[in-house]
Amino acid sequence: MIKVLSVTSECVPLVKTGGLADVAGALPGALAPHGVEMRTLLPGYREVLSAQPDAETVFEVWDLFGGPARVRRGVLGSGSEASVLYILDAPHLYDRDGRPYTGPDGHDWGDNAQRFAALSLAAAMIATHGIEEWFPDAMHLHDWQAGLTPIYLRELGAAERVKTLMTIHNVAFQGCYGADMVETLGLPPQGFTSGGFEYWGQLSMLKAGIIASSKVSTVSPTYARELMDGSFGMGMEGVLAARGGDFTGILNGIDLDVWSPSYKSARGKAKHKALLREEMHLPESDGPLCVVISRLTGQKGFDLLLESLPTLLKNGGQLALLGSGEGYFESAFRDAALRHENVSVRIGYDEGLARRLIAGGDAILVPSRFEPCGLTQLYGLRFGTLPLVSLTGGLADTVIPATPASLSRGVATGLQFYPTSVEALKHSINTLCDLYQKPKIWQQMIRNAMAQPVGWDTSAAQYADLFTNMVGASAALEEAAE
Ligand code: ADP
Ligand code: GLC
Repeated sequence: MIKVLSVTSECVPLVKTGGLADVAGALPGALAPHGVEMRTLLPGYREVLSAQPDAETVFEVWDLFGGPARVRRGVLGSGSEASVLYILDAPHLYDRDGRPYTGPDGHDWGDNAQRFAALSLAAAMIATHGIEEWFPDAMHLHDWQAGLTPIYLRELGAAERVKTLMTIHNVAFQGCYGADMVETLGLPPQGFTSGGFEYWGQLSMLKAGIIASSKVSTVSPTYARELMDGSFGMGMEGVLAARGGDFTGILNGIDLDVWSPSYKSARGKAKHKALLREEMHLPESDGPLCVVISRLTGQKGFDLLLESLPTLLKNGGQLALLGSGEGYFESAFRDAALRHENVSVRIGYDEGLARRLIAGGDAILVPSRFEPCGLTQLYGLRFGTLPLVSLTGGLADTVIPATPASLSRGVATGLQFYPTSVEALKHSINTLCDLYQKPKIWQQMIRNAMAQPVGWDTSAAQYADLFTNMVGASAALEEAAE
């Protein structure tokens, strides 16, 4: 077994703000059959510690940026899928009300640099000294919050032995802090250069991870290309291009046990749709019931959807939306719901309602301006809730768009629009509503969608290969040196 420590700032079922949590929560179980033992290190936020009351201390750090810390051993998942969870219990950094990255006022915590440098430093210490006599061969670093790990590994002298894979879930979040943080966080000052972790005069934790990890990946092949060709690199394109063949895209999957429809066919959806309409106070209607479950931010393209709403409504379509995020979008959708009986909106975060929307909807709308992978379109496929998506990132890699060719071959699983514009979205909504009126084609698309593989199998094998190559390469180097 290859031993890998996954370092993440969120992880289902304990704490989640977005898709990263689903991926971090699913990978240990998905990788086990491929010969990888993955353990997870997660910050000890209040909700994490209270969900794991029996977690015993297995590692101690006297001073982690202003206070003592301990690592507790907990458990992630259950039954044959259970894996070891290490919880970084550092009360001065994590024991507070609020969300992982933001306080109760909705603003970022003022000490996020220290909070996540601490996660990275603790990870590097565990890898260097071992934990419970377990010495990871490699580390899986998720997003900027884990980005400083390879720098600390170098400082601790373990970078040769322990390989690192930096996975970028969203390059829009770069973990940038003032130059003074280099000293505060105990980083080597000589690393603060344009070839190092300096980024436009600041420290970037994401850049640190990109330049210093053994390998770099992102969460879909198309997003990997988009990051390199500059379309969505957000300033990191040169840094990523410099990694050349060390940078790759591996598509996310979803946990098929967690996301599993209770019905096998289109007919089975009808009951869920009726219940959903009731719950969302939507009347009967001839058009498709479209659902959205999302963070409401600029990335997700909801300005386009707001402008295209009249097209959906004119076709007898309906919208049921669950989301939270930027105030502008929250109030624009609330207003739309007040004005139209066929629009129903819930502002907030609600796992249960998310599931009922996926089960009861006819289609799921994901009009993102950019989307590293996206998970809700995968849930949609699994539940026969046809995805209508923009042609970008992981959305491009996961949906087989309805075209004359794909329809005549009977393989289409959804709709894609390009470019990411109001006109193109309106056109796609019209096509969706037309197809909905052709029950034979629509049912075929549902069958296709539900049969499309969206689990972790293929991608877990790719991660396992990557870890094997990384570790194998270092083992070979060690042997040659002996
Ligand atoms: P991102 O990570 O960019 O937000 P993804 O599609 O990868 O986008 O993942 C979003 C995850 O968060 C999905 O599991 C989705 O169901 C969930 N989610 C987003 N908003 C909500 C909400 N308001 N209530 C419940 N779940 C939500
Ligand atoms: C990020 C991306 C999303 C992706 C998720 C999990 O939040 O925005 O597209 O699915 O990470 O990798």
